[in-house]
Amino acid sequence: MAGASNKAGRRRRARFRICASAELGAGESRKFLLTIAGIEEECFLINLDGEFHAFVNRCRHVPLPLDWVDNQFFTADRRYLMCQTHGALYLPASGLCVSGPGEACGKKLFRIPLEIADGQIYAQPPASAPERGI
Ligand code: FES
Repeated sequence: MAGASNKAGRRRRARFRICASAELGAGESRKFLLTIAGIEEECFLINLDGEFHAFVNRCRHVPLPLDWVDNQFFTADRRYLMCQTHGALYLPASGLCVSGPGEACGKKLFRIPLEIADGQIYAQPPASAPERGI
């Protein structure tokens, strides 16, 4: 009985391996698919000078992917993530929109929690779905 109790106590939320941390250099990004609340969402992982962050790939202005060029999210100076459609700029660490169309400014990209273990990066699907509208 104690074993069953311990197993239940150790039950973990599902996680999905994205890649090894060594595979993504500073300033690089990688897209991945993640099922959130039953719906497959395109997301992206970034390496911000050794810190990893992940977000749903959806602008807060109009619900379109951000990619400047496919799988490129950073501006040239790496200070921001940029939406290719109308130029909204997001802070890479927080996902906060700090410049661009007024409807997006002050809003954040939908964050995907990460877990890094044994050199591998895992995404943990949030319990609730990101907003789909504007
Ligand atoms: S859709 Fe991203 S800035 Fe307009």
